Amino acid sequence: MKALILSGGKGSRLYPLTYTNAKQLIPVANKPVLYRVIEAIKDAGINDMGIVIGSGENGRKVRAAVGDGSLWDVNITYIVQDEPKGLAHAVLIAREYLQHDRFVMFLGDNVIEGGISNLIREFEDSDYNAQIVLTPVAEPQHYGVAELHADGSIKRLVEKPREPKSNLALVGIYMFDHHIHEAVRSIKPSWRGELEITDAIQWLVEQGYHVHPYIHRGWWIDTGKPIDMLAANSKVLEELVPAIHGFVDKDSEVDERVTIEPGAQIINSIVRGPTIIGENTRIINSYVGPFTSIYHDCLIENAEIEHCIVLENSQIIDVSARITDSLIGRNVIIRRSQLKPRALKMTLGDNSRVGLI
Ligand code: G1P
Repeated sequence: MKALILSGGKGSRLYPLTYTNAKQLIPVANKPVLYRVIEAIKDAGINDMGIVIGSGENGRKVRAAVGDGSLWDVNITYIVQDEPKGLAHAVLIAREYLQHDRFVMFLGDNVIEGGISNLIREFEDSDYNAQIVLTPVAEPQHYGVAELHADGSIKRLVEKPREPKSNLALVGIYMFDHHIHEAVRSIKPSWRGELEITDAIQWLVEQGYHVHPYIHRGWWIDTGKPIDMLAANSKVLEELVPAIHGFVDKDSEVDERVTIEPGAQIINSIVRGPTIIGENTRIINSYVGPFTSIYHDCLIENAEIEHCIVLENSQIIDVSARITDSLIGRNVIIRRSQLKPRALKMTLGDNSRVGLI
């Protein structure tokens, strides 16, 4: 089997972070989501992966971060999608790479509990033409939605229906045989101008092909918005096996669900887990609360932070209010100003959000 990973898209709901980085490269628990996707596919025994990327800066960033796959001992082929014309369009342009092989398509911003080994095994051992993954969600209207027959087989799939017929959303992980190629050639663009994979699968169902619905019972997060990134971060942190590789001084209190990466230093601070402190990051006279990921080369000094993601090389210094529920980018400085007048002074990127007290 092969894998097709989709890593295009503008990530507009994560602006301003995604002006300078592909959304799939934003880390949760200090590892880019895309790396987690590659590892899940490799764990399922698949070593041939095609990654669909945009033609612009984001595509270049993904190529630079993932390279030829030797980091994971897998083969990576890049497939450039000139415009974001939909998930089914991505399959269309990957035709030459995929050939006649069965494959798993995995959206590069999806994080799922427990990996995909069971799913792949079930599909490999079957004669299904396709397998989709469904899971109950609170707001199905934002997803592809499946309506099932009483016997559990698929009645109908609709992309982002205004009035969903069930609460079963399509997870961004799909398995196909070669019949999908005819399906993606047979459908028309949707109201949002995209070739929807949901419509292509509906076409398979209508033609009588065997599309098997797999109901996923664990957690699953599509990391489209900041709140989703924080949720995924919390879930993955809970799964981490904690380890202390850095330095903790005797005045600090670090609880047992904390991972401290090599070169990190915790000085006179309290760190509560689940939390991860990245390489060469320093936490000085500070409190780091649960569900926090601080990436490499950061400095947190005389500050309190909880339920946050902080990207590399950022500094939070002398801030008296506790910072929570925040996504902080790279090379950011948040610091009490020494200069008069005493006021809030900010240099914020476009589409930034600041919550003041
Ligand atoms: C896409 C699919 C949708 C699916 C979702 C899962 O939505 O079109 O059917 O439920 O991924 O993440 P999009 O992210 O393009 O809105």
